[in-house]
Amino acid sequence: MKKVDVILGLQWGDEGKGKVVDVLTPAYEVVARFQGGPNAGHTLEFNGEKYILRSIPSGIFQGGKTNIIGNGVVLDPILFRDEAEALAASGHDLRKQLCISKKTHLILPTHRLLDAAYEAAKGSSKIGTTGKGIGPAYTDKVSRTGMRVGDLLRPDFRQIYEAAKARHEITLRGLNYPCDVAELEAKWFDAVEYLKSFRIIDSEYTINHALAEGKSILAEGAQGTLLDVDFGSYPFVTSSNTVCAGVCTGLGVAPNRIGEVYGIFKAYCTRVGSGPFPTELFDETGARLRDIGHEYGAVTGRERRCGWLDLVALKYAIMIDGVTQLIMMKADVMNDFDTIRIATAYEINGHKTDEFPFDIEGEVKPVYKEFPGWKCDLRHVKHYEEFPAEFKQYVEFIERETGVPVKIISVGPDRSETIVR
Ligand code: GDP
Ligand code: IMO
Ligand code: MG
Repeated sequence: MKKVDVILGLQWGDEGKGKVVDVLTPAYEVVARFQGGPNAGHTLEFNGEKYILRSIPSGIFQGGKTNIIGNGVVLDPILFRDEAEALAASGHDLRKQLCISKKTHLILPTHRLLDAAYEAAKGSSKIGTTGKGIGPAYTDKVSRTGMRVGDLLRPDFRQIYEAAKARHEITLRGLNYPCDVAELEAKWFDAVEYLKSFRIIDSEYTINHALAEGKSILAEGAQGTLLDVDFGSYPFVTSSNTVCAGVCTGLGVAPNRIGEVYGIFKAYCTRVGSGPFPTELFDETGARLRDIGHEYGAVTGRERRCGWLDLVALKYAIMIDGVTQLIMMKADVMNDFDTIRIATAYEINGHKTDEFPFDIEGEVKPVYKEFPGWKCDLRHVKHYEEFPAEFKQYVEFIERETGVPVKIISVGPDRSETIVR
């Protein structure tokens, strides 16, 4: 029996998952998303084209693969339609390649309003969500009041929708938030009809049958481990399990069916939205990382906060996810840096620790190790041996500290700018 290999972000999202899924897809027959929703923005670049995927798995550009939106995802029919139609217009008709689980939960127009209303009510302690209704949709799922893609096929679907909307309106009124969804609602119902033209399946059976037939499956994570609702920097997290365990619940795969776990990290750190970020740089170096790395949100266009690589957080993520191979992204952004730092520990109230603490707000001071920069362009390198000694020293330090090999190194946004060791 085959196992499901998994790609996960090990930081606060935007590590480059879309690019790597696209690069690895030729080795797989099925690619599946297992959590998150249109809060994700996964960028792929090849042949001079650039695509940003939100709900659709990043395996759709490699031809002939089955792509699955799993039960653990929350799907907004309007944004799904926008995404699928844009892809169809550029020659990528998805109907043959894409299936959606009956158990995938739906994001309703009122979920978007609730997301905005909860954020407005939080004042200065805002989470800085993507505003796509992710939290409220998952809240309904856990409250057992959510609507699923399979419900679209029921004759009483409209009544279920109206009941959900009525509940949301009560909350919105309580929050003093205007509830005018007429326009959005009309678009939503149109988009629902469009969604129904795709294959709606019992994806847990599709996936387990595929494994039994010896097919290889890649699970594509969204967000990152430090945004996980259990293990991230709560409450500044997303509302799903972004960690490896999320694959089991989000696709219906048993824990003993998990194979390789690829953990992706940037050679530095970024975060978008609020919440603690111990190695954040507020100086010129942070601004350089943002400018050279084009660190602006793929979904919201917001500036990403930037800082040095944080080994305390990285080791924590590797532990929680059971990472077997590391993938390092975007080192090319630091090509011109004289020195580069990595946080190896935190100092909290005078005590040094290399464990990720319960509360990382406030007095967390990173302890840094400094490395000489490589001061040359990594983007033309094709084989690991060609990298400069300073860069290899950086990579090999991370391998020694984490105990996990760095198997893939990405040195540019394009599919071709990837070194596999
Ligand atoms: P994801 O959400 O994890 O898929 O990542 P995003 O797409 O949100 O952000 C990653 C950004 O970095 C995108 O703009 C990619 O095109 C770009 N990118 C990916 N890998 C590299 C790399 O190795 N070097 C550089 N310079 N850019 C990269
Ligand atoms: P990808 O898959 C980076 C962040 C938001 C916010 C918090 C909660 O592209 O890596 P939400 O809308 O999920 O309730 O917002 O999570 N966030 C992401 N940050 N990349 C993402 O996805 C993100 N998805 C959500 O900025 O801080
Ligand atoms: Mg992204």
